[in-house]
Amino acid sequence: MLIETLVWATSTCIPAARKAGLVSEVAAIAGRHKRHKSLWGHHLTHTKSFIEKHLSLVDPNKPILILGSGLCLDIPLSALNKHAAGVVLMDAVQPLATRIACIGFANIQFCYADITGFLRPFWNSKEGAKITPPPIAPINLNHYGMVISCNLLSQLPLSFAHSPPTDETERRLTASIQLAHMKALTSLSCPALLITDYERLESEAGSTNNIPTISPRLVPREPEETWQWHIAPKGDIRPGLDIKLNVGGWLLSS
Ligand SMILES: C[S@@+](CC[C@H](N)C(=O)[O-])C[C@H]1O[C@@H](n2cnc3c(N)ncnc32)[C@H](O)[C@@H]1O
Repeated sequence: MLIETLVWATSTCIPAARKAGLVSEVAAIAGRHKRHKSLWGHHLTHTKSFIEKHLSLVDPNKPILILGSGLCLDIPLSALNKHAAGVVLMDAVQPLATRIACIGFANIQFCYADITGFLRPFWNSKEGAKITPPPIAPINLNHYGMVISCNLLSQLPLSFAHSPPTDETERRLTASIQLAHMKALTSLSCPALLITDYERLESEAGSTNNIPTISPRLVPREPEETWQWHIAPKGDIRPGLDIKLNVGGWLLSS
């Protein structure tokens, strides 16, 4: 609990991020990572190597944008820092651990942003008001040499709906938030990498439930690579429940 409290108290964020639960989510990730470092290693290493493997495609004169930098557990900071045109880490939350991890990496900067453009309208709206998210993620992605969406897509709707969604309103919101993100990524003139979980495997008492975390229709084709993230072993959430995520990496344009 100490690590969660520390991360929660020392993170800085955009207005609405605390109310939306994003700071608590980042704190929970820090806690779970600390408890299950060795189980998470495979996923974190795989995400980093998927990014590193594609860095040769980046225009050397333009910066790289990382969406969903969080605690930078899955980001190859040292390799990225070699990109002389610079790297921008974008997130609604900047944990102290990220600020510390970036010390000494002169080419890496941090930028606060709401990648959905919907946090403020949603969390400031009156209960029952009919509001809809922007149809395309409202962030300027045009001057980058590569945009990397890093373990973010399945997380974006969590500020507005449960996972899996509990009713039709939540289902619609989840679908439109994820679609807006995909529209932004697929409309780029530079290469984009999408790294996201697409399925959660919940195993308990000998049976496994496969729950999609994104719509299969959102992604244009099969992932270039897939791997598993053993996110919560038995006992982490409740005794007997084991959760793994199937994760994919896509190169969306070139
Ligand atoms: C699962 S984490 C990604 C993992 C991260 N790369 C790491 O190593 O910690 C998802 C990240 O998405 C961010 N996020 C979620 N919704 C967001 C939004 N609307 N705008 C910006 N960032 C958002 C969270 O703050 C969190 O840091």
